[in-house]
Amino acid sequence: MERGGTRSPHKRRRKVLIVTCVTLVLLIVIVALSVGLTLRQGSDKFQQTFIGRCEQFKGDRSDCQNIWGAFARAYVGRDPCQVPPEAYDPLIAAAPFIPACNRVMFWSKTKTLVHDFTKKRECFKTLEQSLLGSVLDGLTWCGKEGSNETYTTGCPGWTDCDNNPVRSFWNRASAAFADVACGDVTAMLNGSISSPFSSDSIFGKIEVKRLNATKVRSMNVVLVTQKNPVTNCMNASLKDLEKELQNGINYGCKEVTESRIQECSSNEEIPCGACW
Ligand SMILES: *[C@@H]1O[C@H](CO)[C@@H](O)[C@H](O)[C@H]1NC(C)=O
Ligand SMILES: *[C@@H]1O[C@H](CO)[C@@H](O)[C@H](O)[C@H]1NC(C)=O
Ligand SMILES: *[C@@H]1O[C@H](CO)[C@@H](O)[C@H](O)[C@H]1NC(C)=O
Ligand SMILES: *[C@@H]1O[C@H](CO)[C@@H](O)[C@H](O)[C@H]1NC(C)=O
Repeated sequence: MERGGTRSPHKRRRKVLIVTCVTLVLLIVIVALSVGLTLRQGSDKFQQTFIGRCEQFKGDRSDCQNIWGAFARAYVGRDPCQVPPEAYDPLIAAAPFIPACNRVMFWSKTKTLVHDFTKKRECFKTLEQSLLGSVLDGLTWCGKEGSNETYTTGCPGWTDCDNNPVRSFWNRASAAFADVACGDVTAMLNGSISSPFSSDSIFGKIEVKRLNATKVRSMNVVLVTQKNPVTNCMNASLKDLEKELQNGINYGCKEVTESRIQECSSNEEIPCGACW
């Protein structure tokens, strides 16, 4: 008897249909699983980066899991446009900023140059060199309502909404960083733009306002200039900065060329204080 030959075309078509359906269902399951896995891996990878950077940071690193927990509770499960700066209060409490007298360096529109300098020379410390600042520098994150995951894509951008997780973090952290400033503080501002001080910047809106005259003695602006400076220390925006400072905080401004700062970055023999 010939087996195959006796099957009706009808039965064969049904078999093909079943096989196709099963294959399709399997494909869908595989795709769903790998999408889920990728999302989970994205979430886990962010946490690993956070904890890895936290542990790498010199000093007290025993409680990076706690710090992660305090951080995640600020935004996980929340609408990513409804995370106010105060959501990070418990995080700041879990990883407090350490007072740094005479070494605090603020910056606005000079990020690359400032960090090139502060990384090579130990004279000054920026927010990005604090524990929380170094852990979160350059990262994007957000949560979603009804989810306990951390997302690193599809998050609102800096200006999409005021209370987004990234912007609120930097606002809150900048306030905490300025709160512990003491002695003489320095700010590197950009002399190649027409208004080196902007009251809308984090520096202008938050940091300058939090400096407390009971602890801070002076604000020293280093205005970084290039060959053809656009502006100088007499600029009206810098007068605004001076006016913003609490009574009792002295103000100073000095124009320093970018090449001089680069020289100071690479030449350890120039004492920190003598660079400008
Ligand atoms: C100052 O701003 C200009 C224009 O945005 C930019 O090209 C330059 O690199 C900035 N200077 C520093 C020191 O960051
Ligand atoms: C999210 O919740 C699930 C189930 O409750 C749990 O297994 C998982 O570990 C949680 N993930 C995170 C990132 O907390
Ligand atoms: C400055 O700090 C002192 C002491 O910590 C505090 O009592 C005071 O309220 C602060 N003042 C301002 C204006 O922030
Ligand atoms: C100086 O500051 C004012 C406002 O504060 C600004 O409008 C002006 O263009 C600035 N720059 C120069 C080069 O004058």
